[in-house]
Amino acid sequence: MRKKITVVGSGNVGATLAHRLADKQLGDLVLIDILEGIPQGKGLDLLESGPIEGYDVKIKGTNSYADTANSDLVVITAGFPRKPGMSRDDLLKANFDVVKATTEQVVKQSPESILIVVTNPLDAMAQTAFKVSGFSKNRVIGMAGVLDTARYRTFIAEALNVSVQDVQGLVLGGHGDTMVPVPSYTTVAGIPIADLMPKEQLDKIIARTAKGGGEIVNLLKTGSAYYAPSAAVAQMVDAIFNDRKKVLPCAAYLEGEYGIKGLFVGVPVKLGKCGIEQIVEIKLTEAEKAALMKSAAAVKELVDIIGV
Ligand code: 2OP
Repeated sequence: MRKKITVVGSGNVGATLAHRLADKQLGDLVLIDILEGIPQGKGLDLLESGPIEGYDVKIKGTNSYADTANSDLVVITAGFPRKPGMSRDDLLKANFDVVKATTEQVVKQSPESILIVVTNPLDAMAQTAFKVSGFSKNRVIGMAGVLDTARYRTFIAEALNVSVQDVQGLVLGGHGDTMVPVPSYTTVAGIPIADLMPKEQLDKIIARTAKGGGEIVNLLKTGSAYYAPSAAVAQMVDAIFNDRKKVLPCAAYLEGEYGIKGLFVGVPVKLGKCGIEQIVEIKLTEAEKAALMKSAAAVKELVDIIGV
């Protein structure tokens, strides 16, 4: 039987994600939003692309959580996007209310689902969904590291004029300005980045990566990125439904790993059919460790404000 996926929020991220998931035929889709007509219209439009694109997954747009019942996986994209000049953290309180209410509905309808949280500020919103849902920690995952790492890999590939496929890297920590790209695990076709690029150039790329979301917001002016964020979620869904055991950087609830306790922070995890099947602990340099702790402290500040 086909899997059932609910995408909460039919804005740019949610709708583009639904498009990607349909193309990949990862499951039947429900697109839900509080706005009347938008999820229905986008859902129907996507459904009508099926004969051309060759997918026959079911796609339904709705305003009713009853339609989401028994989803295997739910992606929460609902919330307010960033406007120019706003940090992800400015969104904290408004989106806390949205994610809390959404999670309560999701738990009622799909108590066995895996949750992927996309709403910003990401780590604090993942923690909200985790605490409100009462789900086990393997079933609540924050999407950020895959996106941030994709930006980092893009900039490195561009600078070196090599295939993005050859660039491997990791971005850890919170999905904010304190995120931690990790040079010691950055390679091009297995060659350490330090052998290919001067430190100053890599430092510039690291700084651009940390502000990568803001760069898009400043260009778009009316919202935030959605092509790369939706691609990142689709890769995570694919890893889970196909039980790939893929190691990807995601926000996960840490209970002592990396010296961090009781907090969602971006770390490498193994994604398979149970969601987060392992938190992979890698050795970091002292500087990388310090940067990760600083990033975790920034997440903790937000989590303390909303009390989750
Ligand atoms: C980004 O980094 C919106 O947080 C998202 O683009």
